[in-house]
Amino acid sequence: MADVLAAQGVGVDYPTPAGAVTAIDGVTVAVPDQGITVFAGPSGSGKSTLLRVLALVERPTRGVVELSGETVSTRSHRQLRALRRQTIALMFQSPLENLLPELTAAQNVIAAAQSAGQAPDLELLGVVGLDGMGDYRVPALSGGQQQRLALCCALARDPKVVLADEPTSQLDDTSAGLVLESLKVLVDRGVPVAVASHDDRVIELADRVVRMRSGRVA
Ligand SMILES: Nc1ncnc2c1ncn2[C@@H]1O[C@H](COP(=O)(O)OP(=O)(O)OP(=O)(O)O)[C@@H](O)[C@H]1O
Ligand SMILES: [Mg+2]
Repeated sequence: MADVLAAQGVGVDYPTPAGAVTAIDGVTVAVPDQGITVFAGPSGSGKSTLLRVLALVERPTRGVVELSGETVSTRSHRQLRALRRQTIALMFQSPLENLLPELTAAQNVIAAAQSAGQAPDLELLGVVGLDGMGDYRVPALSGGQQQRLALCCALARDPKVVLADEPTSQLDDTSAGLVLESLKVLVDRGVPVAVASHDDRVIELADRVVRMRSGRVA
């Protein structure tokens, strides 16, 4: 097993009116190219910050991020944007943030595939249990269905890795269970997944758990 993503000694500081706040510090973690890695820890422990840095959305203040063994976090914002589009799918907590709400489910899948230069495959809707719902507009889908559509869009982009920040926290138990099943489907199709969550149901699913505390790996 190789690592698809790795953080080496990563620290992130944020400027605030009261001075710099260190969100994470000295974090060295790897996301292997198989299975589900979960970043767990209490609120404020730095899970989302770590995920954003690994997703190349943000550059670390200290340390580096490697993609498939190559240091990439030192590249320009423009280069990172291009790299991200081709290789990384990042999923947010709020279902609507992950989708184009004025489009149908099928149109979202097509747009996602095209954004990564992939040929759209609408059969993927069935993979996440949304067969027959291609013509539904996003607002007509439940939160859980929207999250599964977001996973479908991630799959359509054929990324090297999927990163998800608290994908179940805004869902009821049943919907969360279905989203987790879809996450497993992604992993079974060979896509490595990293999830930030303090949800026990997510942690149960993990192949490995990285525990965070006060911005560090515990
Ligand atoms: N943009 C920012 N500006 C200032 N401080 C920030 C910023 N983003 C995060 N922080 C701080 O960094 C620390 C880690 O935050 P982060 O959101 O990564 O934690 P988290 O583990 O995801 O928490 P939660 O479980 O509540 O989502 C917190 O103390 C937070 O207040
Ligand atoms: Mg968070």
